[in-house]
Amino acid sequence: MRFDIFTLFPEIFAGVFDESILKRARAARLIEIALHDIRDYATGKHKVTDDYPYAGGGGMVMKPDPIFAAVESVLEIGNLKLEVGDAPIQHPTSNIQPPIPIILLTPQGRVFTQSIARELAQYTRVALICGHYEGVDERVRQFLATEEISIGDYVLTGGEIPAMVIVDAVARLIPGVLGDPGAPAKDSHASGLLEGPHYTRPADFRGARAPDILLSGNHAQITLWRHRESLRRTFERRPDLLATTELSDADREFLKTLGWNSQ
Ligand code: ADE
Repeated sequence: MRFDIFTLFPEIFAGVFDESILKRARAARLIEIALHDIRDYATGKHKVTDDYPYAGGGGMVMKPDPIFAAVESVLEIGNLKLEVGDAPIQHPTSNIQPPIPIILLTPQGRVFTQSIARELAQYTRVALICGHYEGVDERVRQFLATEEISIGDYVLTGGEIPAMVIVDAVARLIPGVLGDPGAPAKDSHASGLLEGPHYTRPADFRGARAPDILLSGNHAQITLWRHRESLRRTFERRPDLLATTELSDADREFLKTLGWNSQ
């Protein structure tokens, strides 16, 4: 899978993609991450990429032309015509199969979740546009981006860290990226529940013991224990998730013993 990241600050990404799991995934060509400096696509002597907002309002706005030029050139989609009449807006990559999502990172977008990560992991290529300053010219949102994603209800200085978050969350779902192919299925949020606790050696750490059940070798009992701890943790920390998770009758019975009231 290939990620094309459009940014004014490509250096910010150094390190994040060059260590550990993502580094190995890149070396194994399971993922490819291409950083594109929007400034390279700005014209004029000063290669200006931002400007004052029309009618004032403070802050700077990223200009549309270098962003369009960068995305059009890298994705090879030609010069997009901006239909401003009643005609429906075509997907900018409608000439490419499969289409490439062009994601604008903005606090106004759909809030990123594990299920969006799974959705994006189905594509062979994804483009991410990092906004900065007060925002990007509205025409980028209107005619170039195919969706807008926020990583949470808070405002960052730019879309670079959100782009890293998305690449990381999506890349680890690609088969082969994690050592254990079953790992993504066990993650917190994968099943709609939080993961339960993990322990490793020593069994006794300063008097705090790992639960005996985990050392028992009884796999059926361990599976049941883990599932219940996952239910317990979700009930204690994120009871809201229980409302949208598929629960068995046994799950419901167990949750009731913890004080859960499904209504
Ligand atoms: N840019 C600034 N804040 C952001 C957020 N929370 N999510 C995505 N992009 C952003």
